[in-house]
Amino acid sequence: MPPLVIWKAGEAALVTEDHLRHYRQTVPGCGLVMVEATAVSPEGRLAATQLGLFEDRQIPGLRRLADTIREAGALPGIQLHHAGGRTDMIKTWGATPLAPSVIPGNEEVRELTESQILRIIDDFATAARRALEAGYELLELHGAHGYLGSQFLSPRTNRRGDRWGGSLENRSRFLHEVIRAVRGVAGNRALVSCRLGVAEAPPAEATPDSPRPPHLQVTEGVDAARRLAAAGLDMIHVSHAGGMSAPSEPEGDPERFRPDPVLQLARPVREAVTVPVIGVSGIVTAEDAEEALTRGYCNLVAIGRGMLADPQWARKVTEGRPEEIERCIHCKPRCFHFKEPEKCPARRKLGIGPPGA
Ligand SMILES: Cc1cc2nc3c(=O)[nH]c(=O)nc-3n(C[C@H](O)[C@H](O)[C@H](O)COP(=O)(O)O)c2cc1C
Repeated sequence: MPPLVIWKAGEAALVTEDHLRHYRQTVPGCGLVMVEATAVSPEGRLAATQLGLFEDRQIPGLRRLADTIREAGALPGIQLHHAGGRTDMIKTWGATPLAPSVIPGNEEVRELTESQILRIIDDFATAARRALEAGYELLELHGAHGYLGSQFLSPRTNRRGDRWGGSLENRSRFLHEVIRAVRGVAGNRALVSCRLGVAEAPPAEATPDSPRPPHLQVTEGVDAARRLAAAGLDMIHVSHAGGMSAPSEPEGDPERFRPDPVLQLARPVREAVTVPVIGVSGIVTAEDAEEALTRGYCNLVAIGRGMLADPQWARKVTEGRPEEIERCIHCKPRCFHFKEPEKCPARRKLGIGPPGA
């Protein structure tokens, strides 16, 4: 089960009964569960209802959640997150958003100073210490989807001229230092993974004269994965760095299995690193999951929207009754679970409310 925010925390970013109910329902049958993106710093919150690991008082609730996951039979992991410039002061409860560079479109954001960068790396390490205290056995660092780790890696959002910007080595430095700091805290007490955005769609300002404005491309993303694995990762969870609209080339067999563009990114990473790779995106059925593994895209598969649509997805598959799954139909333009989960067609058919209800 990949990280899937359900927007149930309040101002203090604490675990609620809704979280416990949701994970209790969804976890049985899963092997590894990544608790949703959890903020390491108050100014890094991506939503006003996101979980947090930036205060000690957040530990007891997260411990109950880890215990719930373990009791349901899976290994509890948690995703450590900082939104960088991809948030606003309502979502951060008044804190000023910080980003590698200020790019047009969000006037509230401030450019990170050297000491703020070092403080955030330290926040990741402190959050890791709290997560270990709460009993998590895998710490996943969010380096995807256009949030802070991604913002440093992408030449589109990182325009810095210091040691944190420019070359790929410099743009990878932030994630590299976060990995080192978290590994230092975790030692061999927990696995450390990074959810890495390996490529991003070309920005909209592309024109026929300038078809390739700076953006993170697959070759650089795979190179970054290789460097970051060597910095101390046990696992890489491959995703995108901010939108992947068109596949470069359709792969697979349209009759049986056609991996989506994000899942396709997992294969070159798997070929470049020696640690296990998690593949995700677009997998709806147990057959898709099996094909992704046997065709060599990845070593582990994660099912996101499929499990939001039918919280018993993993249980039904592992109990040998996959035909009972109420399938996710990939609502367009966006999955209802982001804003109006009660409207998810699959959950409505199953007669269940939003996650945690
Ligand atoms: C409602 C919702 C919440 C999500 N929350 C997170 C999150 O907290 N962290 C993260 O890295 N990705 C998050 N994602 C992305 C999913 O983990 C997953 O990568 C994506 O949905 C593609 O996989 P799928 O096709 O199996 O859903 C979220 C996606 C959805 C639909």
